[in-house]
Amino acid sequence: MLTSEDNRRLTQVGPGTPLGKFFRRYWIPAAVLEEIGEPGGAPVRVGLLGERLVAFRDPEGKPGLMKEHCPHRGASLAYGRNEVGGLRCLYHGWKMGQAGKILEMPAEPPDTRMKAVLTHPAYPVQEAGGILWTYMGPADKMPPFPRFPWMDLPADQLLVVKMHQDSNYLQGLEGDLDPAHPNYLHRDFDEAVARQSWTGAGWQSISDLMSDGAPVIQVEETPQLMRVGAIRKTADAGMSYVRTTEWVAPFYTHIATGPHESQLFKAWLPIDDNSCFTFYIHHDARKKLDVPAIYGNWGHRSEPPHYRTAHTAQNMHLQDRKMMVDGNFSGVIGAAIQDRAVQESMGPVFDRTQEHLGTSDKAVIFFRRLILRKLQEMEEGKELPGTAPGLDFRQRAASVYMPAGAPWQEAVRWIEAQEAGLKDPLPKQEATSV
Ligand code: FES
Ligand SMILES: [Fe+2]
Repeated sequence: MLTSEDNRRLTQVGPGTPLGKFFRRYWIPAAVLEEIGEPGGAPVRVGLLGERLVAFRDPEGKPGLMKEHCPHRGASLAYGRNEVGGLRCLYHGWKMGQAGKILEMPAEPPDTRMKAVLTHPAYPVQEAGGILWTYMGPADKMPPFPRFPWMDLPADQLLVVKMHQDSNYLQGLEGDLDPAHPNYLHRDFDEAVARQSWTGAGWQSISDLMSDGAPVIQVEETPQLMRVGAIRKTADAGMSYVRTTEWVAPFYTHIATGPHESQLFKAWLPIDDNSCFTFYIHHDARKKLDVPAIYGNWGHRSEPPHYRTAHTAQNMHLQDRKMMVDGNFSGVIGAAIQDRAVQESMGPVFDRTQEHLGTSDKAVIFFRRLILRKLQEMEEGKELPGTAPGLDFRQRAASVYMPAGAPWQEAVRWIEAQEAGLKDPLPKQEATSV
């Protein structure tokens, strides 16, 4: 459990809050590029860290992100005219530039001083991997852009799926810190069907984990943030099934997938304290993705502008009680919807003074303590995780069989060896953990 105070510190993301300041020290996704595909097209509303913004692409193709409401009397710039260099408000014609300057105030006298004095909050943006990224923090603290390798893949090897969630981001993120839950929430009763289904999505590994519903969980801090391992027993006492998850600050994770399987990178992006977007970024450096199979297994297909699916807390996420008898554990279809069903069922922000954490929550506990410590270190002016110049962002997660007793942190070396057709990993070059 957490104290109320710590629960607030870990869930409130608005400007000026400790976590809001922490998240603003990183490059984060603001929108997917399909939302602002057309130069000169309609601006789109973006809710991000408790702020209301608009994203747009000006007629010359340059993207921008600025506060939604006009600095004059507050009309929404989502209605505005999209012009070269910025947005013009419909109400009295003020034009706000992409860099935060007010370029024109046509209803004011030509010599008005207001233009020089006023600014309109706008944030720097970068396009990469099908996503518009932004940095909302102090200019002098901007970290290097995290160049994840999937950003450079061809379109048919990369799938960015954005899905709205009616809960605080932490409820979602903690699902990815929780290696034991798939044995229950994501279980299909017919193992053969499950195996075939996930194999179709390029994910044999999700059915492999069903071998042990009480994995041993290990956690350690890394320069990027943290690493989680889940070690499971198998039918062969000499072999373990190990899944590792790599975390990159502030809310990114590489999810475990097996040898030759497509990989998954996720972001938990707070819209405000009560809602978030999940970005599922499916990628495969070797082959095209099987997109229908991915949507089929995860159930997360969604459309702009709202990126919601038909499943809501009000309709019980379309839970089917008959399917719970002869189909699957949850009665809900799609792993992403199963996750969202339980996380939204907790309410917008769960009161964590009421929980009772156990052994399976080891990584959740570690993450909370780590972030609370990093919030303190931020106040002390220390360097934040994942921001050091030259940091390696080519990590991957792993899901692999390896000898029982071998260090769990070496799962990636084992998976890479198996992908290279080797029986054992090559001799180690250097330590991977800190
Ligand atoms: S409210 Fe935007 S110009 Fe007046
Ligand atoms: Fe899950």
